[in-house]
This record gives sequence, C-alpha cells and structure tokens, in this order.
Amino acid sequence: MSGQLEVAGPTLTLRYPSPDDAAALFALARDPAVTRFFVWGPYRSAREPLSWIDTRAGARERGEALEFVVARADEGPIGVTGIVELSRRDRRCVIGTWFGRRWWGTGVNLESKGLITRLCFDALALENVGAFASAANEHSQRALERAGFVREGRLRAYHRHGDEVHDVVAFSLLRGEWERSPLAQLGVDVRGEPPAAFAPDG
Ligand SMILES: CC(C)(COP(=O)(O)OP(=O)(O)OC[C@H]1O[C@@H](n2cnc3c(N)ncnc32)[C@H](O)[C@@H]1OP(=O)(O)O)[C@@H](O)C(=O)NCCC(=O)NCCS
Repeated sequence: MSGQLEVAGPTLTLRYPSPDDAAALFALARDPAVTRFFVWGPYRSAREPLSWIDTRAGARERGEALEFVVARADEGPIGVTGIVELSRRDRRCVIGTWFGRRWWGTGVNLESKGLITRLCFDALALENVGAFASAANEHSQRALERAGFVREGRLRAYHRHGDEVHDVVAFSLLRGEWERSPLAQLGVDVRGEPPAAFAPDG
C-alpha cells in the first residue's frame, strides 16, 4: 500500500480518486442540487472532475487537502469526502462531504462520517474535527447533528462564492465525544499510511 491510504467500513471504502473516477463523479455532480451550496459546480463535463483529480496528489503532499472518493463495492463512486484546513499544531481539521442525490438519506453519510472520523482521531491523532455548513443548508446541518457533531455557532461572512458572501454554521466533534458516539463503534479498517504532511508528529 506504499503511497496509498484506504479506509474501509461495512459497505463503503474511502480511497484516493483516480482518473478512472472522472466519469462517475461527473454523473453524480452534474446535478445542481448536489453542488448548490458549493463554490464549484455543477460539473459541465468529465474534464472538470478530471482536473480536480489530477491536482489531488499535490494537495496531499502540501498538506492542503486529503480527499477521497466514497465507493461502494457494487456501485463504484457515490460521492466524495475529505479533510481540509489541517492544523497539526492545534490537532484539528475540517471535513467536508457530498453524495449523489440518490444516496441522500440512505445511511451512507453516517457510515462515511464513521470512516473519516476514525482516520482523523486514530491514524492522524487529531483532537478536534470540524465541519462547516452554509447557513442556508439545513439538510447538511441536520446531517451533522445526527452524526453527533456539536453546533458551535454562526460565522459571519465566512465563505465567498465569487461576489456572494455567505454565513456558515460551524460544527465540531471532539475526541471524547467521538469515543462515546456510535461513529466510534463502526468496524473500520485503515490500510496504508497517511501522507507525511498529515501524519502525526509522533
Ligand atoms: C449533506 C449530505 C452529505 C447529507 O447526507 P444525507 O445522507 O442526506 O444525510 P442524512 O440521511 O443523515 O439526512 C440528514 C437530515 O436531512 C433530512 N433531509 C433529507 N433530505 C432533505 C432535504 N432535501 N432538505 C432538507 N432536509 C433533508 C433528513 O430527513 C435528515 O433529517 P433527520 O435526521 O431530522 O431525519 C448530502 O445530503 C449531500 O451530499 N448534500 C449535497 C452536498 C452538501 O450540501 N454537502 C454538505 C456541505 S457542508
């Protein structure tokens, strides 16, 4: 698994995106409902996810982002989740997630949160996993609360999408909260090593 990292759960696996995933990611995020609250999208061609995929290895090496395709054995990619805004000094990061619309409300979000939080708290030895939801994205806020994330408050004029300025709601999950939550009970297998920029100091 040199240079690779996979996080496997009961039905889902997080793995690094490869160029072969571009067509599937295009099919999932050409839907404006999926990207409604994002600065990017909807995708207009498979070239757009391909450009994103091509830049992920560099982002991992620079410690900017550690992002994964969420894949089901029978279906292939169903969405994306990942880690940004890593602070090794403060042992915290921010996670983000999207799924194709047909997967909303099916339980994949909870399992994917179990996988990414296991990676954060165990393999990366972080203490605080944050998440931001657009203030208008009530669905995402409910999904984070359902997964056990704690609402911290509203951050004003925090994200810019071109000329539009958005408030966001900040959430976090601390190690002790995670350890007591159903997320930590999920059977998870972390295979491979995190990139050096994300690895614990030791
Ligand atoms: C946000 C997202 C990852 C959540 O995944 P999910 O599988 O739908 O999550 P859940 O099944 O836990 O649903 C969470 C809640 O939203 C509710 N919900 C479902 N569809 C909804 C909709 N269209 N609008 C508002 N709420 C909705 C569910 O009933 C559930 O509420 P409950 O716990 O009170 O019953 C997924 O919807 C998604 O990919 N959305 C598009 C991208 C996005 O906005 N990502 C988040 C960026 S911060």
